Amino acid sequence: MKNKVTKAIFPVAGLGTRFLPATKSVPKEIMTLVDRPLIQYAIDEARAAGIEEFIFVTSRGKSALEDYFDHSAVLEAELAAKGKDDLLEVLQSTYMDSGQIAYIRQHKALGLGHAVWCARRLLRADEPFAVILPDDVIAAEKPCLQQMVEAFEENPACMVAAMEVPADKAKSYGILDVKEDMGSVVTVKGMVEKPKPGTAPSNLAVIGRYVLTPHVMENLHHMKEGAGGEIQLTDAIADEITAGRPVHGFRFNGQRFDCGSKAGFLQATVSFGLARDDLRDELMGYLQDVVQHPQAAQ
Ligand code: G1P
Repeated sequence: MKNKVTKAIFPVAGLGTRFLPATKSVPKEIMTLVDRPLIQYAIDEARAAGIEEFIFVTSRGKSALEDYFDHSAVLEAELAAKGKDDLLEVLQSTYMDSGQIAYIRQHKALGLGHAVWCARRLLRADEPFAVILPDDVIAAEKPCLQQMVEAFEENPACMVAAMEVPADKAKSYGILDVKEDMGSVVTVKGMVEKPKPGTAPSNLAVIGRYVLTPHVMENLHHMKEGAGGEIQLTDAIADEITAGRPVHGFRFNGQRFDCGSKAGFLQATVSFGLARDDLRDELMGYLQDVVQHPQAAQ
């Protein structure tokens, strides 16, 4: 197996029902944190980690995503004519070279594992790959996937991003059964997707960044039904442990926002807004005001 990671899969087929009615016509991944869509944060993170090929697993109603990464000749010509070079530069981050991005459809919502499996023909049998769930937005000095790819290149075994969560939240995640805790890296002896309350083997949860070996794709061929009757990526990774191959959890440096939930999305919006030089003062002033006079804000 190569140990250089150059391809990433972005499962973006979900309906985003938690954000209805907005997601009736706008894919969840196009919803904006400040002024950039969620998917842009994921792409930037992947690029920083050395990813060169981007594979989107989409579904009906997601064509806005394809347009987003396309060149817009009309818009560019207009901005150029008006001398708006700063905005032209902003657009650069949305460009992909021809053939650098591929879209595959998941025809049925059969689970995250199935979505990843849909990309199998675009990966070679000897190459590792990354998976990024754009709902999990991670603010970090060194982007999370870059931290993981570096760790993987040193020690090429399946690796999942991991973070401690409160015990009552474990039921919403894939949870690691830890064999040995070495600080930033843990070795794993089992993984459970969405454990029933009170049964979680730890409170170390899988967060949506993975660096996986091609074996995981082979495991997905078995189409094993797991939690919620879905084909789970967690189970295909856990099969590696059963096969005697190592799986690592990686405690990343950074702050994770659950942008799959409304509260998490709002928190990310505030946090990313405060990180911006052009917005910080005004937003901070407003937040202080709201805290002091909550009634006035309603
Ligand atoms: C998915 C994974 C789960 C992981 C989570 C992280 O679940 O199946 O193992 O912990 O992402 O966000 P979902 O949130 O899609 O239900």
